[in-house]
Amino acid sequence: MTNFNSYLEEHRQRFEDDLCELLRIPSVSTDSQYKHEVRQAGEWVANQFRKLQFETELIETAGHPIVYAESPPVEGAPTVLVYGHYDVQPPDPLDEWISPPFEPTCRDGNIYARGATDDKGQMLTHIKSAQAWIETTGKLPLQVKYLIEGEEESGSENLGPFLEIAQERLACDVVVISDCSQFAPGQPAITYGLKGIAYYELRLTGPKQDLHSGSFGGAVSNPINALSRMLAALIDENNRVTIPGFYDDIEPLSDRERQQFAALPFSEQEFKNQIGVEDLSGEIGYTTLERRWARPTYDINGIWGGYQGEGGKTVLPARAGAKFSFRLAPGQVPEQISSALESMLTELCPPGISMELEDMHGAPGIVVSLDSPFMSAAATAIEHGFGRPPVFIREGGTIPVVTEFTEKLGADALLLGWGLDDDNTHSPNEKFCLADFHRGIKASTHLWQELSKIIIDG
Ligand code: BES
Ligand code: ZN
Repeated sequence: MTNFNSYLEEHRQRFEDDLCELLRIPSVSTDSQYKHEVRQAGEWVANQFRKLQFETELIETAGHPIVYAESPPVEGAPTVLVYGHYDVQPPDPLDEWISPPFEPTCRDGNIYARGATDDKGQMLTHIKSAQAWIETTGKLPLQVKYLIEGEEESGSENLGPFLEIAQERLACDVVVISDCSQFAPGQPAITYGLKGIAYYELRLTGPKQDLHSGSFGGAVSNPINALSRMLAALIDENNRVTIPGFYDDIEPLSDRERQQFAALPFSEQEFKNQIGVEDLSGEIGYTTLERRWARPTYDINGIWGGYQGEGGKTVLPARAGAKFSFRLAPGQVPEQISSALESMLTELCPPGISMELEDMHGAPGIVVSLDSPFMSAAATAIEHGFGRPPVFIREGGTIPVVTEFTEKLGADALLLGWGLDDDNTHSPNEKFCLADFHRGIKASTHLWQELSKIIIDG
């Protein structure tokens, strides 16, 4: 195998400069104010591929564009599809950032910026590894197709329809995704399970306008009181979701898996310190790792209504609302959760309040087989890049299209996370360890080699 070490060593700075360039583009996909910047980030990614002479296209959708590129086919070798995203979450609360979110800044070996780990930094490793091959040997040892979207953080709504029409173009043997985490610093991992999601906004309307809470309170339903009661009723004192049938379709954790989770060096005390809490809590009967990686959860993500200004205001508000979501265990079906939820909330809604439930987006969870030649190839490549073999983990996040990839393209998925649990993903001061950025590039460079040796039947 070609030795890429000196090439990778010499190009460290150039790769970091490229990453910073991309991080400077505020590609917040959920906020229409950033529409232009999201496209600009897509263009930037497309240009990376054009420089490698890959066939490249910026594909328009009803939302943000999809970047698609491919290297030339290689006879007798498998085809890989790399999926990643160039959009990012909103950066707020802004005043909690030590350095501004779109001015990438290096501190203690980490690069701080929104999108550093999720997913610009991780995604870029698979482009830089291709660049290493092209600039060292002139070609890749297998065909790599790239699908880099701009709507992952808003639910990948327009990617599904594209997969439908582009099945042939996207045909591949394995999908590689780096948009998750290592187990711990110095302990790389392969993620074999992710949670799904069902996301909603609930809006309640009471009287036609805000009222004096003395004159009217107690005689009409207060939308915030109603909202609080309805949202609280969705979970019980054991942290079990109360929606009828909610747990019915879950693929249960096997005893073996529970033992494997328990054998990982996870410290509850360190975890508490990391997030700044005295105690942990969650669904009764499960450990912290089981709750985080494999059990469904319920979280209210935002809530509004009434008076928030200085001093008190004795008001009975006309309206209230909340955004909330369920993380789903593999097996749970978002559409079924939605209809059971709607019935339950309709029943809970008190007289004098009208309710609107918006189903914002949903995606199922996934467990991928550990038993494939692709997994072994990835493990070998990770050991090369990170100097240590990976452990196998599940994670609580969602990558909405993974299931569609496996179903529509019939390909295995390799979830190879280069991030860390304390990267502040979706939070202020998001970071990515630069050493891991370079290890990720090295691992990816080896991955192309290892995967190219796999013989595909048929
Ligand atoms: N990179 C994350 C997914 C992730 C997070 C995987 C943590 C493993 C651990 C991804 O970009 C993401 O944040 N996805 C969203 C999807 C949602 C908006 C539909 C998520 O999980 O909140
Ligand atoms: Zn994310």
